Amino acid sequence: MSTPQPSTRSVSAASAAANLDNLTIATEGEPDTVDSVVAVGAEANGKPKLGPTGRPLRAIPEPPLLDKHGPATVLAMCNQKGGVGKTTSTINLGAALAEYGRRVLLVDFDPQGALSVGLGVQPHELDQTVYNAIMERSVTAQDILRHTSVEGMDLLPSNIDLSAAEVQLVAEVGREHTLLRVVQPLISEYDYVLVDCQPSLGLLTVNALTAADGVIIPLECEFFSLRGVALLIDTIEKVRERLNPKLDITGILATMFDPRTLHSREVMARVVEAFGDTVFDTVINRTVRFPETTVAGEPITRWAPKSAGAQAYRALAREVIAR
Ligand SMILES: Nc1ncnc2c1ncn2[C@@H]1O[C@H](COP(=O)(O)OP(=O)(O)OP(=O)(O)O)[C@@H](O)[C@H]1O
Ligand SMILES: [Mg+2]
Repeated sequence: MSTPQPSTRSVSAASAAANLDNLTIATEGEPDTVDSVVAVGAEANGKPKLGPTGRPLRAIPEPPLLDKHGPATVLAMCNQKGGVGKTTSTINLGAALAEYGRRVLLVDFDPQGALSVGLGVQPHELDQTVYNAIMERSVTAQDILRHTSVEGMDLLPSNIDLSAAEVQLVAEVGREHTLLRVVQPLISEYDYVLVDCQPSLGLLTVNALTAADGVIIPLECEFFSLRGVALLIDTIEKVRERLNPKLDITGILATMFDPRTLHSREVMARVVEAFGDTVFDTVINRTVRFPETTVAGEPITRWAPKSAGAQAYRALAREVIAR
């Protein structure tokens, strides 16, 4: 068997991430006020409009309609740092992909069950969850599958039971391939499977990476969020070398961006400098609308369909389809 070769894109991602660990950001000298915002999106001196990433805005094509579904692209939403927008991005990217006629399966792979809650499911009321599907041979993904309020988007829910799997799986044969085995029978029915990972690089996350074709890394536009990226990319590379040669980094998604702060803009500039085109053009701004949607148990595309947040996740969906 030949050893899988890492793609050039990921090699550069690794060195880029290593550089981020030596990151310093100069914040002195410029007032951190709205006035200091560079005219993002404004046409200046006949130059092209710049997006929030500082790159010229590119038109993202309207996705073509599909006349048949599957096989699905599996994307792991992954970052071991907590609270960076993994779950929010899973729900809202999924809902936006469904709006474009894609069949979407969301997998809640975090014992916190936040994805399930965010879709209006009460995790403690569930009889069977992803935990049962991965630990019990008699339970299939179909047995635990639920439809959501979004047409074309289904969910494999989870709750605190899943926390036991991390320990129990260690003793299993083929322990890294368990999630792959569970979702495999559904791949032909969906266009996208999005796996919401827990904030750790443990065995559950390795299972998600082993099942995935690509990784989306939500990255909060804040200094400390850059520091763990090298470790995350190192883990992705190990999984590619040892378990899943097809694994690729689909994109880095900047979240919680605040265009009014110099800090946000500086972090963004460093991320784009380090990762180039791996960074999605779409950037998710910080807004209270997202916590609101969690309470509502609905994606923002339904809760506030015209909001900037909903538009941003639609733009992200177009980028994901185009990649
Ligand atoms: N763009 C945003 N602006 C403001 N708040 C946001 C944004 N995205 C997410 N949030 C809020 O931040 C909190 C963390 O978001 P989320 O749960 O999506 O992160 P996570 O990476 O999944 O967290 P965890 O690592 O705990 O699973 C939530 O309360 C969510 O509503
Ligand atoms: Mg989460």
